[in-house]
Amino acid sequence: MDSLWINSTYNIDNFETLNEDLDTDICIIGAGIFGITCAYYLSKLGFKVVVLEKDTIGKKTTGNTTGKITSLHGLFYDYLISSYGEKFAKDYLYANEEAIKNIKDIIDKENIKCDFEYQNNYVYTTSNDEVRAIKKEVQAVNSLDFNCEYVTKCGLPFDISGAICFKNQAQFNPLKYLFGLCDCIEACGNKIYTNSTAFDVKVDGDYYLTYVSDYVVKSKYVIMASHYPFINFPGLYFTKMYQSTSYVIAIDPKKSLFSGMYINFTNPIFSYRTAKYMGKNLLLIAGADHKTGQSGAFMDTYGILENEARKFYPNCDILFSWNTRDCISLDKIPYVGSYSTSMPNMFIGTGFKKWGMTLSNVAANIIVDKICKKPNRYDYVFYSNRLKPVKNIDEFKNVLVQSTNSLVINKIKHVNTNFDDIKNNSGGIIEINGQKVGIYKDDDGKVFAVKPICTHLGCLLSWNDVDKTWDCPCHGSRFDFRGKNLYEPAFKDLEVFDLEN
Ligand code: FES
Repeated sequence: MDSLWINSTYNIDNFETLNEDLDTDICIIGAGIFGITCAYYLSKLGFKVVVLEKDTIGKKTTGNTTGKITSLHGLFYDYLISSYGEKFAKDYLYANEEAIKNIKDIIDKENIKCDFEYQNNYVYTTSNDEVRAIKKEVQAVNSLDFNCEYVTKCGLPFDISGAICFKNQAQFNPLKYLFGLCDCIEACGNKIYTNSTAFDVKVDGDYYLTYVSDYVVKSKYVIMASHYPFINFPGLYFTKMYQSTSYVIAIDPKKSLFSGMYINFTNPIFSYRTAKYMGKNLLLIAGADHKTGQSGAFMDTYGILENEARKFYPNCDILFSWNTRDCISLDKIPYVGSYSTSMPNMFIGTGFKKWGMTLSNVAANIIVDKICKKPNRYDYVFYSNRLKPVKNIDEFKNVLVQSTNSLVINKIKHVNTNFDDIKNNSGGIIEINGQKVGIYKDDDGKVFAVKPICTHLGCLLSWNDVDKTWDCPCHGSRFDFRGKNLYEPAFKDLEVFDLEN
């Protein structure tokens, strides 16, 4: 199902598809919040900008986020101080605080109607055992000359043991904001093209050539703002990021709601915020996160959220449910800057974890400053060509083990599923003449067969029974049951088998 945000803005997407070669200052690949924010700032500075979007505007992460604008990213600052020092942690915090202000300034200046409202943001626990971690985080944040509060009461409809609270954070409708920025970009005379898939970028002297179907966009600078960077070499981003899927439901609680934004920090994760829709005050509950490609059943995903909703709002109506994928770097810090040292005028912003509303603004400001040859005091925090040792080594091991399994072990392991074991409206992998075949049977038993090998780097795909897609456990590419590519880093479709011949 489409998200609340997509449902409230769906009819606004009427952009053209690229149908000619172009020459421009800056080519931006991807029309999510990061790409569009870069395009907005650069358009206002008078640059010629072309935006290329594979799908429709904001249909991926931006249109499916919870839309929280905050510098409180879970319990993060104690980790940052102990891993990278106080100055680093403080700059990360103040970069995000500036982003909140930047977003509000744009909304005011451009008069964008996007339901922006200031809210307190809380990270809470209901376990007495976890109070110590919250208090440690409060102490860490206060040591950065930033005022946060430790509280034991908040607006949630259940008791908490403790929470850290950041005031003057915010929430909005991310797609209304995005479309507001798009209007500003077009008003500056720049163009956004949708359904225009960039599949390669090559260096040509002082210029870059971006290839889109039969057309080429020539530019001095490129900003890779796709959902996941799809150029493997150089950059090697696929070795240092993974994707995480999370789920959201929007309910009409049928009774009055609290204010504030909330998230806890140990599994099962639940995130809450309110949102306005057609005169109603809805509650969004998000969570049930898992690594993309480790597919769960309905009860492990939306089911968890529905159960939670009905504990406190037994008569609620579930109006919307959706899911999203976020790119997460192994050291939990986004990559912002040059794509690689050998491509200095091609830029990237990625790995925003689940906090892309603020981090995309931070990233856009860093990239715009680079293009304008201006210093940016925060760029070292997010330096994209860093070679620091990974601090959370367990995460690194998990990713390595899973990639090895999908790339090598599971591909040669025999599967015991038979064709008849696969029920209608479900899928799975079988073997035919020693070859693995991905099968999906629709409601009427019609069969769709694909080669279940990811077109990115060849990992064995997993069947996702919630979305009826083939998902890659290695770097998170996704394909529909017909084999059509939906999510990068892969951009080619799967091979399709005709089982009747
Ligand atoms: Fe990299 Fe599938 S996404 S191998």
